[in-house]
Amino acid sequence: MTRDEGAGPLCLVTGASGYIGGRLVPELLAAGHRVRCMARSARRLRDHPWAGRVEIVEGDATDPASTRHALDGADVAYYLIHAIGGAGGFAENDRRAARTFAGAARDAGVKRLVYLGGMAPQEELSPHLRSRAEVGRIMLDSGVPTAWLRAAVIIGSGSASFEMLRYLTERLPVMVTPRWVRTRIQPIAIRDVLHYLVASAALPPDVSRGFDIGGPDVLTYVGMMQRYAAVAGLRRRIIIPVPVLSPALSSLWVGAITPVPGALARPLVESLRNEVVCTDDDIGRYVPPPPDGPTGFDRAVELALRRVREADVATRWSSASTPGAPSDPLPTDPSWAGGSLYTDDRSCRTDASAERLWEVVEGIGGERGWYSFPVAWRARGVLDRLAGGVGLRRGRRDPRRLRIGETVDFWRVEELEPGRLLRLRAEMRLPGLAWLEFRVSEDDGRARLEQRALFHPRGLAGHAYWWTFLPFHNRVFGGMCRGIAHAAEEPQPQSTYSSGTDV
Ligand SMILES: NC(=O)c1ccc[n+]([C@@H]2O[C@H](COP(=O)([O-])OP(=O)(O)OC[C@H]3O[C@@H](n4cnc5c(N)ncnc54)[C@H](OP(=O)(O)O)[C@@H]3O)[C@@H](O)[C@H]2O)c1
Repeated sequence: MTRDEGAGPLCLVTGASGYIGGRLVPELLAAGHRVRCMARSARRLRDHPWAGRVEIVEGDATDPASTRHALDGADVAYYLIHAIGGAGGFAENDRRAARTFAGAARDAGVKRLVYLGGMAPQEELSPHLRSRAEVGRIMLDSGVPTAWLRAAVIIGSGSASFEMLRYLTERLPVMVTPRWVRTRIQPIAIRDVLHYLVASAALPPDVSRGFDIGGPDVLTYVGMMQRYAAVAGLRRRIIIPVPVLSPALSSLWVGAITPVPGALARPLVESLRNEVVCTDDDIGRYVPPPPDGPTGFDRAVELALRRVREADVATRWSSASTPGAPSDPLPTDPSWAGGSLYTDDRSCRTDASAERLWEVVEGIGGERGWYSFPVAWRARGVLDRLAGGVGLRRGRRDPRRLRIGETVDFWRVEELEPGRLLRLRAEMRLPGLAWLEFRVSEDDGRARLEQRALFHPRGLAGHAYWWTFLPFHNRVFGGMCRGIAHAAEEPQPQSTYSSGTDV
């Protein structure tokens, strides 16, 4: 792919398949820069919304030839690579990659290197932070003017350290915590990190040094968990400190509780024993603060949870990518990022026409019911009323047609593409957010129904809810999919129960 846009400096972005790199590219494009991305596999960049607007070259930072090729003609090179989470020892791999890249950047006449690493306080550092600092020194020693930005925890959906915080807080209402949860941390919002990264491309040539970057809040890890819980609408977490949990034990425990892979979680947990608070704000001498001012921790979490909060399930979980804010999830994020999401997928084919199948889908609920296990639906309606919810009594406005925004029993129509897609968002009392989605298509001349139930649990109760009802899913969801297909083959839709009778 070779499409350059604009006439600004040519920026090489390494780590473009990673969390920071993938979000930096659109910001550089918006600033009028030309962008070339280096990735070990070009395929990993294919799903990005910006993929058609940048040049993509394959390269491995430990391989001098491909690195030289990637750097050829670049004015600015962003170094956003690290090997933690990969196979083998990360320190040696990172050292080799940094040396190769820094040397190639000097030989290629690159005018500026920008490296984002961790903070490097004056104390004995964890292996991860020590390695990050070593990479910073290699970049500075390259002779190419270098901006080494040093950040603590970055807050945004998809950031490994944020995902760890998210899962620990959401899954553990009561926590037995080791000493490291009391260490002070100065987190920073992803959008502020990107602001500093973009601006660093234009630093004067005589500036070659490290800069600490941080948000306005200094918190402990416990403080971050409590504030996360408050923003996410969870109860205050109960924290029981113990002196015995070693970082090694903690990382095993983090691995068991969260889906963040152990090889990534372990170095991150080990690093939490180091206090990571800005010791300088010299960056302010060269770069103005972010346009809306530095983003506070609560606001950064709010932004990271925005897509889930607004129930923007389509852009959050499908591979159809819509450009969003840097704090939002991206389809290329690792599968463990973005918060928990349970799904139940069903599909079936029918001899009915796609039009007829769609009629049945659009007519679901109300008098026609939900095509499976009517007693269970009725019981769910009664339970919902008892819990103060709306139950099934709302029925539907029109037996055949739906509009976006209107209600169907205890659901609301969130998305409607006539003939193709219906997405309902649950309004029943639930420990989480739920959607039910139907897609109608034609496959080899036969109509096909794809049905998907999605559940984003809130706290431990949400997870317990999903697992409690899992044994009934085949009857409820499987039966629904088959029932809709059968109904489409009948001359008239079948009635399975009457709504409005749950109380
Ligand atoms: N996320 C945070 O909270 C945070 C906080 C402070 C600082 N930082 C710093 O930000 C930088 C980027 O972190 P991130 O969170 O974006 O990491 P990430 O999501 O794990 O991405 C790492 C990237 O490095 C690439 N990579 C690894 N080895 C490579 C090699 N030999 N050649 C070419 N590419 C290679 C990976 O490419 P593949 O797809 O090929 O594996 C991936 O794109 C790191 O320096 C990190 O220390 C991050």
